[in-house]
Order: sequence, then C-alpha cells, then structure tokens
Amino acid sequence: MTRLYRFARPLLFSLPPETAHAAVETGLASLQGTPLARVLEGRLAVEDERLATTAFGQSFPNPVGVAAGFDKNARVAPALAALGFGFVEVGGVTATPQAGNPRPRLFRLAADEALVNRMGLNNDGAAAIGRRLQDVDVDIPVGVNIAKSEDVDPGAAPADYRETYERVAAGGDFFVVNVSCPNSQGFEELQNREAMAAIFGELGDAGASPLLVKLSPDLPAPAIDDTLELVDEFDLDGVVATNTTTQRPASLSSPNRLEDGGLSGKPLAEDATEMVRYVARRTDVPVVGVGGVSSPADAYAKVRAGASVVQLYTGLIYRGPTIARDINQGLLELLERDGFEDVEDAVGVDV
Ligand code: FNR
Repeated sequence: MTRLYRFARPLLFSLPPETAHAAVETGLASLQGTPLARVLEGRLAVEDERLATTAFGQSFPNPVGVAAGFDKNARVAPALAALGFGFVEVGGVTATPQAGNPRPRLFRLAADEALVNRMGLNNDGAAAIGRRLQDVDVDIPVGVNIAKSEDVDPGAAPADYRETYERVAAGGDFFVVNVSCPNSQGFEELQNREAMAAIFGELGDAGASPLLVKLSPDLPAPAIDDTLELVDEFDLDGVVATNTTTQRPASLSSPNRLEDGGLSGKPLAEDATEMVRYVARRTDVPVVGVGGVSSPADAYAKVRAGASVVQLYTGLIYRGPTIARDINQGLLELLERDGFEDVEDAVGVDV
C-alpha cells in the first residue's frame, strides 16, 4: 500500500461504503482527461511486452482488469486505464434503470479483507450506459456485463438480455452474460440448462460476440458441466469464474459476515481459483479468473490454474489505487523466477 492510501484509506473507511465508493467515483471521473491522469498513467501502467496477452479476440496490455460492479454505469473506464488496469468490465447493466435494494446494501469485512454486497443491480439502464460507452475513448478492452432486469420473469429473460445487449453493443468490446447474481430476483432459475440455452441462443442470434458467461462459485459440479457443454454448443468465447458467494467460510471474523448478500475478497480466493482450474480442465475457451485477487501471488495462482486474464474489485478497496501496478510488477518477478518467457507461457501450467 502506498503512503497516500495509508492516509486516505482510514478517511474513506470512516464513511459508509457506498458513500466512499461515490466519492472515489467522483474523484476518478474528475481526473479523466487531465494532465494528472497522464502523469498517473506514466507511473502506474506497467508497460512490458511480457505482460501483454490476447484472449477472445482482444489484446490486453496487461492481464489485470477491473471486475463488474465497480464501474456499474461506465463513468470511469479512462481513469481505471490511467491506474494501469489492462481492461475493464462495466455494468451489470439491465434493460431499464434500476434502483437496486434498500440501503445499506454494501458492507466491509475489514478484518477479513472482504465485502458483502446485496446491491441488487442498481444501474442507469442500457440506453444511458450504451450512449455513455460510445464516448469512452480508451486503449484497453471494455467489456459489458449484461444482467436480467429485476421485474422480468425468467421465461422472458432471453428477450430481456437481448434488449440490453442491443443497446450497449456499439460501445462494448466483449460481453458477459451474468446469470450468477445472488442479489436480484429470479437468478437461481437462470442457472439451469434450458434457461441458459435460451439466453445464449437469443444473444447468438443478436450477433453478440465475443460472448462470455459468468459463473457462480456456488454452482454444484453437474451444473458447471451443463454450462460448459452449452459454452461449446453455442460457441461462446470464454468463461468468467467467479461471481460472489453466498457461503460464509468459518474463518470470517467481522461482524458484517452475518449480512445477507454475496461475499467477495480474500475469503473467496481459493474457491474461485479451484473453479478456474475446474473450468480450464474441461474447456478450450479462455477463462477470466476473478475472486479475491489482491496480490501478485493471487493473480499468478489464477493464471497458473488456467486464467488467461484476471479481474478484481475488492482488492482495489483494500489495497488502493496502485494495485494494478503492484500486481503487474510482482507478476513479472514471479514469471522471471519460474523461467517463463511471458504471462501467456504460465497460463494453465497447474491445470
Ligand atoms: C460485484 N460483482 C458483480 N458481478 C457481476 O457480474 N455483475 C455485477 O453487477 C456485480 N456487482 C458487484 C457489486 C459489488 C459491490 C461487488 C463487491 C461485486 C462481483 C464482482 O465482479 C466479482 O465477481 C466478485 O466481487 C469477486 O471478485 P473480488 O471482489 O473478490 O475481486
């Protein structure tokens, strides 16, 4: 952690988490396009061709991205690029604007380096986000996380996903079908074979590409296997593993562990890595590894388990704005230590 964040973090943590997030978002948005952003980018974007990689048709300057939920409304992708991230997944986006669940709905578990959230997919809606995305001018891939609208029955989900996709299509570089949100109605019913086949079919007809699916870490093995068969059948381009978990590991010590919602951060790291490995063993498509990445070793473990690129959200809250640089620099050292020429060389060596 830098000296600056050692000072700023207690201030941010003295605010309710969502207020702190809004303050950070405002700060990042006002940074964009300023000379300071260019200075930051010069210091935080690690430019090294050993980190550059390609997956699902996208070129990534480095393999460390921002996971869905941080930039829900596509407001700060250029600032995140200036912090040195190699890609951003914006959203989750729904067809119409949603308010989400009543507050409080985001909780810090500081002693566990974790968060619990039950945001409920609050976002500005596909039309507004689609327009905003068209003005985003960055050199890194920007993906869009597409979710089911709260008031849409699972039977009508395929058309709902399609509507959202069509409104954001022009501004996104890749698209992630989110069928694994634990905090919004009707999502459990989406993670079965028939429902997913209908959604993938509809998005395929709409021309959605590259198209990835994001999995829950709580899925039992047969349901994962079903999903991976569909990935094959519908020619999907990748798998994102994983979303937050509704489980509460016994190791948690923070009082907020009792809050309802999805747990993210350190306590999710190992299960998410195992899910990456499980998926990588069974499919040929690239895997995006996410869940509890906050150090170079965490990112490296996911890469070795089969992740072509990784993402993080909670790590950014606890480790601060230099996390992408710190992970990228550390990854270079780990690659060198183990005799890999570049990051692509290390993908899946522990599968
Ligand atoms: C999320 N996540 C998430 N995922 C998704 O597919 N769509 C979404 O809208 C959101 N929203 C969201 C909000 C908040 C407050 C959090 C903390 C997380 C899940 C996120 O993308 C990621 O999969 C998990 O958080 C695990 O990664 P980390 O946080 O442990 O790095």
